[in-house]
Amino acid sequence: MAENRADAGGGILEGKVAVITGAGQGIGRACVDVFLREGAKVLAVDFSGVQDKVAAECGPNCVPFHADVSKEDEIEAMYAAAIDAFGRVDASVQVAGTQGGRTGPEFTAEEYDLMTATNLRGVMFCIKHAARAIKQSGGGGSIMTYTSVAGIGAEQMAPIPYTAAKTAVHGVSRVFAIDYAPDNIRVNVIACGFTKTEMMDGMDADTLAHMEAKPLLGRAATPREQAEVAAFLASDRSSYITGTVIPVDGGWTARLV
Ligand SMILES: NC(=O)c1ccc[n+]([C@@H]2O[C@H](COP(=O)([O-])OP(=O)(O)OC[C@H]3O[C@@H](n4cnc5c(N)ncnc54)[C@H](O)[C@@H]3O)[C@@H](O)[C@H]2O)c1
Repeated sequence: MAENRADAGGGILEGKVAVITGAGQGIGRACVDVFLREGAKVLAVDFSGVQDKVAAECGPNCVPFHADVSKEDEIEAMYAAAIDAFGRVDASVQVAGTQGGRTGPEFTAEEYDLMTATNLRGVMFCIKHAARAIKQSGGGGSIMTYTSVAGIGAEQMAPIPYTAAKTAVHGVSRVFAIDYAPDNIRVNVIACGFTKTEMMDGMDADTLAHMEAKPLLGRAATPREQAEVAAFLASDRSSYITGTVIPVDGGWTARLV
């Protein structure tokens, strides 16, 4: 029944337009479903090509867009496309991220560049251009980025360049929140704990058990559990929340070990 709330006109994102990056799979794909359920119109962005399939499955309130969000010109084009398609932008959800990489203290400049291009530099340009599009639309809005619990506490399985990028997003988001507060544009971070997406399919049993033992709740999150928080942050129900990092981690960061 809850899935049909938007049809009944009761969704918390009724009348809002959202840009969602990384919409092809995992948490981004779940965000598309939850935002549509709550009445939003969505520009589904990815560079994998799968965004076309997602939009075909989701119907006319979801329009696909191909962009590599490590590139500023493609980011700018993405918000222009949302305005073209739906007339405005109210929310931007940066989910696209580069994962993997070597763990341990050795890293190269190439690894650093690869891990920060989308996860940090791309996110910064997304926030900048999202705010411009939201200001152009009038009425304020909400911008959020998915980072990681690796941005809050140390995790040996998190590569150092990945940790650098995710941690830095926490810092820059706070400054953006100051900059855009006068325009009623809220900027927040959702720090993900272990979340079971397609990319975990190949994970070996020991690593899976190690990761599932971390959260107090003793299990991984579902992508849907992550997406519900983004929908709340994009909605007017979170109108007094800005400049913060919200861990959605089943309690992982609540304990010392
Ligand atoms: N899944 C987890 O356990 C977990 C934990 C901590 C943080 N996170 C973070 O949450 C976010 C989503 O994670 P996920 O597991 O759903 O990821 P995923 O790898 O399953 O999906 C990421 C999507 O982003 C797209 N993408 C990647 N780089 C892009 C780029 N430059 N331009 C456009 N699209 C791009 C990919 O094609 C893919 O569709 C990531 O930022 C990730 O770092 C995830």
